[in-house]
Amino acid sequence: MSRYDAQGRLELADRIRKTVLPERGQIPMFVYTDPDVYELERERLFGSTWLFLAHTSEIPNPGSFVVRSMGEESVIVGRGDDGVVRVFLNACRHRGMRLACEDFGEVANWRCPYHGFTYGSRGEFMGTLMGAPFERSAYPEGLDRDALHLVEARAEIYQGLVFATWSRSGPSLDEFLGDVRWYLDLIVGRAEMEVVGVPERWMVPTNWRLPSENFTADAYHTATAHSFLSRLGMVKGVDFGRDGYHVDPGGGHGLGIGVHFDGESYFPAELAEEYATRLDGGQAQTLARVKNLHGNVFPNFSFLIPNFIEIEGRRVSGAMLRVWQPAGPDRTQVWSWHLVERGAPEWWKRLGRKMYIQTFSSSGMFDQDDTENWEAQTRSSNAALYRQEEFLLHYGMGLDAPPLPPGEFPGPGDVYDGKFSEAAARTYYRVWRNHVLEEVR
Ligand code: FES
Ligand code: FE
Repeated sequence: MSRYDAQGRLELADRIRKTVLPERGQIPMFVYTDPDVYELERERLFGSTWLFLAHTSEIPNPGSFVVRSMGEESVIVGRGDDGVVRVFLNACRHRGMRLACEDFGEVANWRCPYHGFTYGSRGEFMGTLMGAPFERSAYPEGLDRDALHLVEARAEIYQGLVFATWSRSGPSLDEFLGDVRWYLDLIVGRAEMEVVGVPERWMVPTNWRLPSENFTADAYHTATAHSFLSRLGMVKGVDFGRDGYHVDPGGGHGLGIGVHFDGESYFPAELAEEYATRLDGGQAQTLARVKNLHGNVFPNFSFLIPNFIEIEGRRVSGAMLRVWQPAGPDRTQVWSWHLVERGAPEWWKRLGRKMYIQTFSSSGMFDQDDTENWEAQTRSSNAALYRQEEFLLHYGMGLDAPPLPPGEFPGPGDVYDGKFSEAAARTYYRVWRNHVLEEVR
């Protein structure tokens, strides 16, 4: 099948409809790495859904910008002198050259490196063609500036998180996030947060959905895949990922909250007042019990409070964000941000940085374990693409388990007692299936 072959598309849609059955706890492995599935995703998922791009602390000033991706398309995320954050396709309207070649910067305008078309980077002129070299002689009839405006995406911000979509008519960001906002607040809304340094990036030979799904719903792997961390004394016991809650907030988003039973909050006492002013009672009460928290905003934006570890005799964790950037059916560019409370005490910032490096980063021990699994799953899937029979995977954990009755947990969504469940992974694949079959717009 090619993307231009209508018959092939119909056959693929039919296969997806018949075999992607999360309602029964069944996912076929071909969807992990099939190149035709990837083509569908590029067009129907990454071409229309909200995608996380940056934290506002990365673009603090008028003229600040960072270069990010929506699917495989490069985009510029910039702040105008009116304070508004706007997102543009990073492609010149003359011949499509990449306009911003740096990863980030601060400019008065963007000048195309090929022939020099220059676009405004400020306020209402952001994205407007301001001029071209030798304009009067090269274009004596003039240039239509409206027609040559940079292609702009719809951008919105939630708690400092900048998202954008190519869809002109779909849901607002608030509607899209829905109940996961309550939980995102625990990571990025608990205090004024700022990104430490610049995001790290590295390539992993995996399909982008495997880590996304892991962060959505997989607390179960921690006892096996990360068991040696307990032997090293980094975490207490191999069951450190069991106690807590599994949450399906709807929309394909998902998360798990690990709790402790020590009474006192693990977070710094110095920040308690700021947390209390920014979180509601139920959120503050939940944060005080957190020892880890992992989750994913559909489709590929993950968030994390790593399991608290001890460094220099103090308990420390932090806040992290991830984007699993697709770079082909079996390649993913990992983007990893470490955030910290701007007003945090010096020890929390310093040890938090060490925690980040040791746990979840390009050199992190958790990441090494996880990457090994995602890579091998990807190889299995690539090999299985040549099998005659469908290779079906088991997504049935907790299929019949009911969520807690309303009122038993302060947060919204379907909340399950204990972190071992695949409920949110099933919703993830229901929403995914609807997108690639174009039932969601
Ligand atoms: Fe940008 Fe020609 S491609 S000016
Ligand atoms: Fe893991």
